[in-house]
Amino acid sequence: MDLFSIATIFLVLLSYYAFSYLSPKSRSRNRRPPEAGGAWPIIGHTHIMRNQSPDKLAHLTFAAMAETYGPIFSLRFGSRPGLVVSSRELAKEIFTTCDMVVSSRPFLKSAEIISYESAMIGFIKYGQYWRDVRKLIRVELLSMRRMHMQRHVLAAETAQSVRELYGLWGERKNASGSAPVEMIEWFGNLNLNTVLRLVVGKRYAISGDEVAEARHCRRVMKAFFELIGLPTIGDVVPFLRWLDIGGFEKKMKDTFHEMDALISKWLSEHRAAAADGKQDDFMDIMIGVLKNAKFGNEYDEDTVIKATCSNLISGSDTNAVMLVWLLTHLLNNPKVLTKVQQELDEKVGRERRLESSDIDNLVYLEAVVKECLRLFPAGPLGGIREFSEDCNVGGYEIEKGTILYVNVWQLQRDPEVWPEPTKFLPERFLGADNHNDFQWVPFGGGRRICPGANLALEMMKVVMAILLHAFDVSTPDDEPVDMTAALGVTLTKITPLNVMVSPRLPASLY
Ligand code: HEM
Repeated sequence: MDLFSIATIFLVLLSYYAFSYLSPKSRSRNRRPPEAGGAWPIIGHTHIMRNQSPDKLAHLTFAAMAETYGPIFSLRFGSRPGLVVSSRELAKEIFTTCDMVVSSRPFLKSAEIISYESAMIGFIKYGQYWRDVRKLIRVELLSMRRMHMQRHVLAAETAQSVRELYGLWGERKNASGSAPVEMIEWFGNLNLNTVLRLVVGKRYAISGDEVAEARHCRRVMKAFFELIGLPTIGDVVPFLRWLDIGGFEKKMKDTFHEMDALISKWLSEHRAAAADGKQDDFMDIMIGVLKNAKFGNEYDEDTVIKATCSNLISGSDTNAVMLVWLLTHLLNNPKVLTKVQQELDEKVGRERRLESSDIDNLVYLEAVVKECLRLFPAGPLGGIREFSEDCNVGGYEIEKGTILYVNVWQLQRDPEVWPEPTKFLPERFLGADNHNDFQWVPFGGGRRICPGANLALEMMKVVMAILLHAFDVSTPDDEPVDMTAALGVTLTKITPLNVMVSPRLPASLY
């Protein structure tokens, strides 16, 4: 590139920046919340979203900013305004008074590549198509009634995985009777198999020919979830899109093709089976429903089915992420772990297998799950939202098009609401109605709240109960587990979770 071209690009960038900064809307800044410092020329605060230094992850940086600017402050992503809120009161206002106005997701050009042109429920704007798909998911897959019917799938999958773990223990056990296992993959496979069974009626064996296929499927779904939802440079400064800095758009296209190949194969298999009248998983139900109803005018039938099923499968990886953090917290808090196992011994005993009907009696375990979701929510910034109209929040005028983040991480550590907020104290949830007034929002809030919340809570309890009933767990040298995390769409543990397991039930119960 010659000097003239460089100078031209520089001038264009400068005028674009000056124009967006001095536009009439930005001149009315005095009615807007305090504007956070630290913006870079052109891209504004976008760099914060991509920072992966453990102490500079976006939710931590926003929490530090809130110390200076208060619980509501504004940012800039390129020329687009952004807003961060981090108090219970403001979350309540957002998810009640402003709910309708903040129920859209921003249109990200990059996400369009990977989300079947935004046909995925998690990425579409609020409207009739979103309502139709959401209702179908709510009624046919994730309602409480369905959940009770599906409890047996969950318990059967977990029992199968525990049997396989027992087999691994037999192969690897040392002189003191315990064996090393890496649990991130174990949780990942268990979660994938459970959700695949519910959505497309499929499971992968964890040994033999299917191991490679299962790993491929998990890698694709995980890569998809890591790439999606975070703005790329092309989203915030559209005329720089062609540069594809970091190669994110290329990775998105490649990942999308891999994911579409998997889901298209399953859809063809289902269509063939549907011709014989078989109908027992969610994809079958969708095929049946879409034969008689049209969801929106923009997408064809196959696109709606593939987009919805792949969104549910990949979105459920958040479960696996949370299970990893749950076991990490238990290993780092041995007294809590002991109490969980005492409760299992009292309520279930060691002479029989745990039944799914035992789960409702495990009140301490339920408190442990809630405390983990409080202290380490997998989505520390909730789901990205966009104001579809001008709106007043906390006495400030927020303009249409503003991108919204609710800092769930900080809100759930508010010392006014949660005494000793950084401590892992499940007792705070025992018999207390302290999480229903927007001080505990790990699944978001309002009409766009996570539809998988019931399944997720159920799954965390069932998996942890069956695992800890069947095995004692400890760290290899009784060292604390490393908590280093990376933030994509979810907050993921980046180092392995190596655990020593030893059986605690008679051999006949595995
Ligand atoms: C512990 C596990 C989970 C956590 C912490 C979690 C958290 C979240 C959060 C914070 C959101 C954004 C909500 C908002 O914008 O206010 C969300 C959305 C969503 N979640 Fe989950 N989730 C979990 C498990 C699941 C599961 C198991 C499924 C499906 C089987 C699922 C499916 C979805 C979908 C489809 C959306 C998009 C909803 C929409 O835009 O209307 N999630 N989740």
